[in-house]
Amino acid sequence: IAATDYQAEDAVVSQGTVATNHTGYTGTGFVDYTNVKGSSVEFTVSAVSAGTASVALRYANGTATDRPMDLSVDGTVIASAVSFPATADWNTWATKALDVPLTAGTHKIRATATTANGGPNLDRITIGAATDTQAPTR
Ligand code: GCU
Repeated sequence: IAATDYQAEDAVVSQGTVATNHTGYTGTGFVDYTNVKGSSVEFTVSAVSAGTASVALRYANGTATDRPMDLSVDGTVIASAVSFPATADWNTWATKALDVPLTAGTHKIRATATTANGGPNLDRITIGAATDTQAPTR
């Protein structure tokens, strides 16, 4: 399936702001989690079919300290304190991808900062098919 981008600046932001003060973001900006534990960005995503999806979070962390976040689907944490380690600077973006089981339909995927540093700057998530390891049968 084709991958779909969901921009953080279009998502529901709690205790964060949309910012443009660094380069390299996609869309019209990125979310600056303010330095608050519990700050979050929630995306409404649509899965056409049930299965394991790849959720790739594009982020920047211009500090030397990890900025871990919990990832939840429809209110249930499915990955705790996922590491978002340093990138070279705030203009340098990296991708953290997680395999996430989704049923067909609409879901709320939320990334919540677990420390008082807040989350990394978040540009977008991309939802795509998880890596297909099954050999073709014909
Ligand atoms: C700096 C940076 C912001 C970032 C913030 C942080 O202020 O310019 O983009 O969000 O640090 O520590 O989270």
